[in-house]
Amino acid sequence: MILDTQYLKTDSEEAFNEVLALASACLREGNVVAVPTETVYGLASNALEPASVEKIFTAKNRPAENPIIVHVASESMACDCVAEWTKSAAILAKAFWPGPITLVLPRAKSIPDIVTAGGDTVGVRWPSHRFMQELIKACRFPLAAPSANLSNHVSPTSAEHVVSQMDGRIEMIIDGGTTEVGIESTVVDLTNEKVRVLRPGMISVEAISAVLSDYKVEIDSDKGILKSPGQLKRHYAPNARLLVLNWADEEDLEGQIAYSRTPHDRVCVIAHTQIVPGTRFGRVSVLPREAKAYARALYDELCRCDKEGAELICVEAPPDDQDWDGINDRLARAGG
Ligand code: TXA
Ligand code: MG
Repeated sequence: MILDTQYLKTDSEEAFNEVLALASACLREGNVVAVPTETVYGLASNALEPASVEKIFTAKNRPAENPIIVHVASESMACDCVAEWTKSAAILAKAFWPGPITLVLPRAKSIPDIVTAGGDTVGVRWPSHRFMQELIKACRFPLAAPSANLSNHVSPTSAEHVVSQMDGRIEMIIDGGTTEVGIESTVVDLTNEKVRVLRPGMISVEAISAVLSDYKVEIDSDKGILKSPGQLKRHYAPNARLLVLNWADEEDLEGQIAYSRTPHDRVCVIAHTQIVPGTRFGRVSVLPREAKAYARALYDELCRCDKEGAELICVEAPPDDQDWDGINDRLARAGG
């Protein structure tokens, strides 16, 4: 079924309030709305209504075994979604909420099976984006929301990215500007004594360990591949093939990719320190050297490469440093 998707902007205070009323009404009717968050755009519906959540899976072509994060707008709302609010959860919420971290805890009975993929746990997050916070408050129910991309595509960091993937598939798209963080939230499992980071993000393991000094915190990754249910090895992927490489200069890079026989005008290079002149390739882009700014720009750059018909994207390997864990994880998956 093709829907007549409404596209709404929130760029003035008046528009913000009008759109808030329209979006909350749409969600109350059981529909799906694409919403801005500080990480990436999400596809939201009423987390307490299985029939509404079902529509998210249809819109995304998402496999049913992948659980969905539940978004709240206060700590007490988070407590209502879980069976146990652990001490570790209280500490992390105090340190990082509202913000880009998702806490996995034993689920409350009120959270339907479709949200947790039948599992005993639920991921909860209090996002910091103003529109998302106001929307949850206006709805007075938590919002289930995965990233607003088709399954296995790059997560959208702007409303235009959402439109390109979701137009005709959902009722409404809210434009809340480009997202501030740029990659998905850090997902932390708090259901065991050991605290496990299931998906690294811009809140680093170091930052989590610093506030959870009484706990052992570890990254649950197997060579960068996570064990979160439904986590596919290849994920967050652009259409083009993606390689993460180090190079000395343009000639060196050319030598490294010669075997692929990709026409040079179909090669996009994404550098941040070893900037090549680009005389031999389709496009060379330069991302910031600082992790936060790099994360903010990365998905937009990958989308641009796809749009320009890239066959091969060569990304200069970022530093192997905690601040870059989330970025390195996404690049490993995009190329896997
Ligand atoms: O930043 C974000 O987290 C964005 C915005 C929209 O909030 N959401 C997002 O959702 O990235 P999604 O569905 O694209 O990715 C959520 C990840 C999935 O890999 C899922 O397997 C994992 O979180 N996850 C969700 N609930 C879980 C649970 N109960 N246990 C373990 N992993 C869970
Ligand atoms: Mg996703």
